[in-house]
Amino acid sequence: MAIVLSVSGSPSVSSRTAKLLRHLDARLARQGHEVIPLDVRTIPAEALLGADFQHPAIVEAADLFARADGVVIGTPVYKAAYSGVLKALLDLLPQYALTGKTVLPLATGGSTAHVLALDYALRPVLNSMGAAHIVQGWFTLDKDITTGPDGSVTVAPGTAEALAQVVDQFSSALGSGHLLAATG
Ligand SMILES: Cc1cc2nc3c(=O)[nH]c(=O)nc-3n(C[C@H](O)[C@H](O)[C@H](O)COP(=O)(O)O)c2cc1C
Repeated sequence: MAIVLSVSGSPSVSSRTAKLLRHLDARLARQGHEVIPLDVRTIPAEALLGADFQHPAIVEAADLFARADGVVIGTPVYKAAYSGVLKALLDLLPQYALTGKTVLPLATGGSTAHVLALDYALRPVLNSMGAAHIVQGWFTLDKDITTGPDGSVTVAPGTAEALAQVVDQFSSALGSGHLLAATG
């Protein structure tokens, strides 16, 4: 079993990105992983915008990253890149906060015009933070994520299968990471 930190980088109170991540968290939990959700929007703005490295919420977030074997990073596409609040948090983490970790990058967006934002914008940042293995990510159109009256999340056919596949690849990569650590 691995510890997975699942980070939603949307500032929105009704975030589709957060809903999608929590939906996928359940799949990872069913596979035996301990999943810890973190919504960046819950971190006090003064800590993020004031670059307060010592703020308890920043220290706690850094500790969650340090404890995780794997990290899911989900972001809405804003202005053709990842969100500003996600960057504000990443900037306050130690330079190599992702060293040795397996990372699954995910994005939601309104248009396929920016489907490559994960690769040209987010992936280089994750690399610079020392990620050991960044598995294949996935971009999901916002219109493909719907919420039922009971809060349940449904993902459109086709996209749902693709997401399941990248989540399962991430899960397998976490498993082999543990094996290497045990035998290495
Ligand atoms: C300020 C802002 C900028 C956006 N810029 C883009 C963009 O450049 N490309 C795109 O495909 N979608 C863009 N969108 C749409 C969002 O990426 C999309 O609706 C996303 O699913 C929102 O996720 P959230 O509900 O988690 O915040 C933008 C939305 C907002 C609010």
